[in-house]
Amino acid sequence: MDSPLLLPYEGPHLELPNRIVMAPMTRGRADDETGVPHPLTAAYYAQRASAGLLVSEGIWSNATGKGGPGIPGLVTDAQVEGWRDVTGAVHAAGGRIFAQLWHVGRMTHPLILPDGATPVAPSPVRIESEQIYTNLGDVDHVTPRALTTAETEAAIADFAAEARNAIRAGFDGVEVHGANGYLIQQFLAENTNRRTDRFGGSRNGRLRFAVDVVEAVAAEVGPGRVGLRISPGNPENEIAEQDAQGTYRALVDAIDPLGLAYLHIIERGAYGALADLRPRWSGTLIGNFNGPEANGRRTGEEVLAAGLADLFSFGRLFISNPDLPARFATGAPLAPYRPELVYGGGDEGYTDYPALAHAR
Ligand SMILES: Cc1cc2nc3c(=O)[nH]c(=O)nc-3n(C[C@H](O)[C@H](O)[C@H](O)COP(=O)(O)O)c2cc1C
Repeated sequence: MDSPLLLPYEGPHLELPNRIVMAPMTRGRADDETGVPHPLTAAYYAQRASAGLLVSEGIWSNATGKGGPGIPGLVTDAQVEGWRDVTGAVHAAGGRIFAQLWHVGRMTHPLILPDGATPVAPSPVRIESEQIYTNLGDVDHVTPRALTTAETEAAIADFAAEARNAIRAGFDGVEVHGANGYLIQQFLAENTNRRTDRFGGSRNGRLRFAVDVVEAVAAEVGPGRVGLRISPGNPENEIAEQDAQGTYRALVDAIDPLGLAYLHIIERGAYGALADLRPRWSGTLIGNFNGPEANGRRTGEEVLAAGLADLFSFGRLFISNPDLPARFATGAPLAPYRPELVYGGGDEGYTDYPALAHAR
């Protein structure tokens, strides 16, 4: 047991049996009409409950924030009931689970949104270089509609309401999704935020939406139950941050005093975000890299040994290795996942990856 990933962790707000976090992963299996999680979702997360902490797939805070077929919500009573089954199963299996609060902003399409609505964003800046997956296949993006100032405030309130629903549904906490080019990062980045109201116009203006969301969510459920995920400098989804270091140093300085449960940093690209931001963050830090290959055990161990993070999150390895901590502990082989079964469908490629005892 000499792997730092397998040591228990005690932070200001988190007490975990190991330092392995299951990263949030969209699986697209919710009922597309109702946004209620699939009946197998409880078993899927319960199978993975030996992670120190589970973070759920991204869950929309408003139907306009839904980014694809089968993405679940946490707005209606039926959705809350569906998630209650999930958290109950995880707790019964001895685990802890945070809900990821998500609004995709411009990363959606009228074919995905209710009543063919136009996607909303900080500014009407269209994705040019990629298409988006819908029930009719891949299609070109449309130009989003800029949120009014009042609608921006309503979107902040939606995140707070979603956090309240998450606690009602039995989640142990919530993670605000500020990463990967979705609504919050669209406010942070220079190329997608061309606003002239108080939510844009300067670095502080670009930060305001992220800070207001985190503050509103923390006021709703208590800062000790709130994490924030960021991906500084990540170019995914046509984000171009001209000054990632300046933006994220200022963001971290603004939220550090709130005393959140954790900051979850995805490092990608040229900016060494973990090393740069670690000294500025006084709470628990979760590290993750996003690259073409799934993060492996050694990467997580190196990050913890170097003191760059307290916990490390694994995504793709958890899809096909539900008992990942036990495999790390015993050096057992890792099962490969079937990429064609990641999104949508039912049991196949979701709950049918066996645990070790059964695999043998
Ligand atoms: C199928 C899939 C779905 C994902 N969905 C989300 C998501 O809903 N929210 C999020 O913040 N990141 C999401 N990610 C990114 C992962 O959380 C993680 O950052 C990434 O996979 C890199 O970690 P890994 O190398 O351990 O897989 C997703 C990744 C994958 C592979």
